[in-house]
Amino acid sequence: MTTYRLDAGAQTLALAVTTGLPEVVYWGARLPDTENLDAIASASLNDLTGGMIDALPALSLTPEAGRAFQGQPGLVLSDVNGTPLLPAFQIDHVDAASNHLCFISRADGLTQTHNIRASESGILTLQTEITSDTPIRIQWLAAPALPAPQRSDEMIDVSGKWIREFALNHVAWTPGIRMRESRTGRSGHEHPPYLILPESGCTNTQGTAYALHYGWSGGHRMVAEELPDGRRQVQFGHASGAETEPGTHFQTAPLYAVFSTTGLNGIGTAFQRHMREDVVQWVEPAKPRPVHYNCWEAVYFNHTLAGLTALADKAADLGAERFVLDDGWFGHRDNDLTSLGDWTIDPNKWPGGLHPLITHVHKLGMSFGLWFEPEMVNPDSDLFRAHPDWMLGPRDQTPGRHQMVLNLALPDVQDTLFNQISAILTEYPIDYIKWDHNRLLPLVDAAQTRGVYALLKRLRAAHPGVELESCASGGGRIDAGILAYTHRVWLSDSNDALERLRIQHDAALFLPVAITGSHVGPRKSHTSGRILSMSFRAHVAAQRHMGFEMDLNELTEDEATTLKSVTAWWKDNRHWTMTADILRLDAADPAVTAEMLLAADGSRFILTAGQSETSIQILPRPLRLTGLDPAARYKITLKNPEDAARQSRGPNALKTAPLTLSGQYLMTQGISLPAQWPATIFIVEGTRL
Ligand code: DGJ
Repeated sequence: MTTYRLDAGAQTLALAVTTGLPEVVYWGARLPDTENLDAIASASLNDLTGGMIDALPALSLTPEAGRAFQGQPGLVLSDVNGTPLLPAFQIDHVDAASNHLCFISRADGLTQTHNIRASESGILTLQTEITSDTPIRIQWLAAPALPAPQRSDEMIDVSGKWIREFALNHVAWTPGIRMRESRTGRSGHEHPPYLILPESGCTNTQGTAYALHYGWSGGHRMVAEELPDGRRQVQFGHASGAETEPGTHFQTAPLYAVFSTTGLNGIGTAFQRHMREDVVQWVEPAKPRPVHYNCWEAVYFNHTLAGLTALADKAADLGAERFVLDDGWFGHRDNDLTSLGDWTIDPNKWPGGLHPLITHVHKLGMSFGLWFEPEMVNPDSDLFRAHPDWMLGPRDQTPGRHQMVLNLALPDVQDTLFNQISAILTEYPIDYIKWDHNRLLPLVDAAQTRGVYALLKRLRAAHPGVELESCASGGGRIDAGILAYTHRVWLSDSNDALERLRIQHDAALFLPVAITGSHVGPRKSHTSGRILSMSFRAHVAAQRHMGFEMDLNELTEDEATTLKSVTAWWKDNRHWTMTADILRLDAADPAVTAEMLLAADGSRFILTAGQSETSIQILPRPLRLTGLDPAARYKITLKNPEDAARQSRGPNALKTAPLTLSGQYLMTQGISLPAQWPATIFIVEGTRL
């Protein structure tokens, strides 16, 4: 037997190899450097008892159906005729470096490779690859399977829908399989590829937890299984059947794994840093993230030069730095029935092209962004009329938002889209694309996703100065796969700040401040009809990458003053907030959603406490902070005491002056805030003295 270990941040993964596939013998808190791995491997050996065969089938990196494994195998394959193959792999050799292990195994003309890398941000990246001497069909290929913790009562996975993204599900472990599968050709609103396995007693701020994220945008399957013998395993891979053609080489997407000893916040901060520092390829890393203005909820398809230049004037005056022209500028796009696929400027709306608008936007000091939805085509478009055979899926399929999907696996489709988009980016000084994807695919096909990635890669190489935003009816495609080519996500089409407060808070378990787009929406929300104050809307947007998205003509003088001042405050702080950790607090009051943005060097923080409904008790419960130095002293200031409830009439200290308190006090007793109305948010600024 040979043993190996990889250390990443707070975690160690230890593996043992005898003759078959490698098996994880330990995954958890970082072990001492002197740990004897052979002893760990011996200690991990299980007993046998009744109702079992005479040796425990290995829960290897790819559990094998041909070795009497009782659970879900990690590989289901057949020959080209559909005859199932049951290879029993033998280890061939191992390439081991301090931050990388590569296990190569062989069976019957097949080679299986398991790659595991440790990154400095504390993440393990795991990937499985299969090559074959002759073509085979793959029904299911899992990234390396990992053991799930025994001392865990529940798993937390993520679901959602349009305008209600990133809803956390707490699901009890029971014998058998919990399977989530996204078969919509996107990572999806419905089953985003994230899973947290908290150990018993874990909260936001304390305890231990494991988490996984499958970095693939094309639809995936997750299997969390408790075997009859009590062992637990987790597998992630492309949705089953996503590889539609026989082949000799198949590969999973990277599976990202993290273990935390600091509660769910250890998971959140590891993923936030990883996405921000390792996954996203920033265009100009040192450049401040600009405040956006997006015109969608102001004008929809109704584009006029006069209307949009007037909006640009107002946006710039309020502090916007990037103007994004959304859907409606191309073909004859007066509604969503037509023109996707015809990426040329609509001469009726834009007789002088986009130049007059872009020149005006630039004169105001803003950069310019443009909306595209390249993967889609309306049957009512010149492209579709010329190439009906470029459509993905059956001819008689049901459209979605009146549109079909282009088959991105076809080189002609990729070339046409590249040329169309490239022509616009060459003619106009555009530094940003909002890349949308508004329908569910008619079928699951990994080649489609590879085609999208290839197109994005080619465009990024040809136009390296252009940033991209991933949007799919809001947050329908948010994963590390797409973020390798994009720089921001449109988290949700809900600009209702009350909904956003929750969505942003839960998405922070995976997404950092800098890539999470959040816009100040209209006074009366277009997706909920709620009417919310400007202070609340602006401060909720200011929790992440801020922007505005509304008809700015509706603003009262008071609203404009508040928006301007919150925007200026956001800009004053962005030099440190964009790299801050988002730490979720364990609010004792379920009506309060509280979190901190803690500077990378710990020198300052912003605490936000959003009240989503009335509290059960009369007085606010103190909010315990986290992540501070117990011995340090912090000056804390309530930024917006004017947002206290009208009935607030007691001597709450923060209403009138800053306080100086130790980290120990703040993390043990916590901060007492004034009484708050629903749909308000308090902002507390903290500085270490
Ligand atoms: C859906 C997006 O989520 C919206 O923000 C907007 O861009 C529309 N598509 C445009 O059609």
